[in-house]
Amino acid sequence: MPETWLETCPLRELPVGSRKLIKLNGIEIALFNIDGTIYAIKNRCPHRSGPLIRGFIDPAGGMKCPGIKCPMHGWRFDLRDGSSERPVQATVYPIKIEDGGVYLRLP
Ligand code: FES
Repeated sequence: MPETWLETCPLRELPVGSRKLIKLNGIEIALFNIDGTIYAIKNRCPHRSGPLIRGFIDPAGGMKCPGIKCPMHGWRFDLRDGSSERPVQATVYPIKIEDGGVYLRLP
């Protein structure tokens, strides 16, 4: 089956250091531009559904990778793969930039 990439927004709407909440197929997804790399993570924290769009960017952190700390209880998730030191994993999505647009692939 061919991969289906869905357009989220033009790249110019997500400048370095910004974040944006989008909705695709009924799923809220938080987009982050950290130092020019775009990350996409499901907006609902796997702990108790905290809104990760309002989380705190943690570029270094203990895991030496870009992370987001949930605004509710501070659990940290790796924005590259959703992993955490906690016993849960956040859902992240592959991103590609093409023709000035930010595209995302749902599982
Ligand atoms: S809801 Fe995110 S850490 Fe609790």
